[in-house]
Amino acid sequence: MQYTTLGKTGLRISRIGFGTWGIGGGAPVLHWKDMWKADDKLSKQALLNAYRVGVNFFDTALEYADGHSERLIAETLAGKDIIVATKIPPLDGHWPAQNKDINQVFPKDYIIEKARISYKNLGSKTIDILQLHVWLDDWFDSNVWREAFAVIKKEGVAKFFGISVNDHDPNSALKIVDSGEIDTIQVIYNIFDQAPKDELFPLARKRNVGIIARVPLDEGSLGGTFDYQTTFNDWRKDYFTPERLKEVVDRVKQMKNKLASTNRTMAQIALKFSLLDDGADVAIVGMRNPTHVLENTKSLDINLSKEEIEYLKNQRWIRNFYPEDV
Ligand SMILES: NC(=O)c1ccc[n+]([C@@H]2O[C@H](COP(=O)([O-])OP(=O)(O)OC[C@H]3O[C@@H](n4cnc5c(N)ncnc54)[C@H](OP(=O)(O)O)[C@@H]3O)[C@@H](O)[C@H]2O)c1
Repeated sequence: MQYTTLGKTGLRISRIGFGTWGIGGGAPVLHWKDMWKADDKLSKQALLNAYRVGVNFFDTALEYADGHSERLIAETLAGKDIIVATKIPPLDGHWPAQNKDINQVFPKDYIIEKARISYKNLGSKTIDILQLHVWLDDWFDSNVWREAFAVIKKEGVAKFFGISVNDHDPNSALKIVDSGEIDTIQVIYNIFDQAPKDELFPLARKRNVGIIARVPLDEGSLGGTFDYQTTFNDWRKDYFTPERLKEVVDRVKQMKNKLASTNRTMAQIALKFSLLDDGADVAIVGMRNPTHVLENTKSLDINLSKEEIEYLKNQRWIRNFYPEDV
């Protein structure tokens, strides 16, 4: 496993991180928003496997099955030396953020109250990175979030602060990143969505803001295992509708035929791509399946030639498959 320093936090993190949205789906009571299906026993195995092979960075959120994902991390990895990033959900329940009045989305007392709940879910261990689960630069001039973060830091509930950038809209966070007032950003970055490289990443590097790449496998398609017959028993049935699935499979198949081999899988190629020098510090991969953990954590061991990297850069594909409020 390779490690790096996550921007100005100074935290030494594994470059493959564990995205725990999916494992929240093992919650006993499922709400429509919990969306993934998972088996807690397997999820715990996946978390442990990841820890054993050197993953020390875990991304979660209070919204993932009402804290179930946070509690699974705490239960499975109690006492271990891990770094956890979690998120405060928007009060109005809208992804992406729409309301320009921050008091309707992240009132000060609400941020503080939710942070305390996450802190408890995580076993009363100081949260390493607390992120707002949505963000609009229109909120930058308000002091609400600054005041809330100051209280949370003083209480020892969280050490560092970040934001999760709206889906496929990296430029919606340029102002806050340029200010250097946050420690990290979390943004969709993968072979298809390379837009963060245009403006967001150079600015983040300039301000020493840590870069967390989410959805590095495009919700699974870049794992290279889908075909036209693949069906989904989770929220992704609305993401990969049959017509979209066909196009996605055609595109990924082409890449896979050209680049994958017995020595490097499509998933490893996609993860390596997201972690190249002009990319992210860490890729947080969703992996409910423990065997994926072993494969994914070897992604940095593979090599991509200059020509192959150029080819992958040309696979950029602008689209937004997300249904409202995901
Ligand atoms: N707004 C936000 O802040 C936000 C939004 C989305 C995601 N996130 C964070 O980002 C993390 C990652 O995103 P994600 O989980 O949605 O999507 P992702 O990481 O792009 O893809 C996850 C999917 O890839 C599959 N997969 C993993 N390794 C594989 C491999 N080696 N071969 C084939 N398939 C593989 C997983 O399989 P299984 O089905 O077997 O698990 C899962 O279906 C989340 O868990 C969450 O922590 C944050």
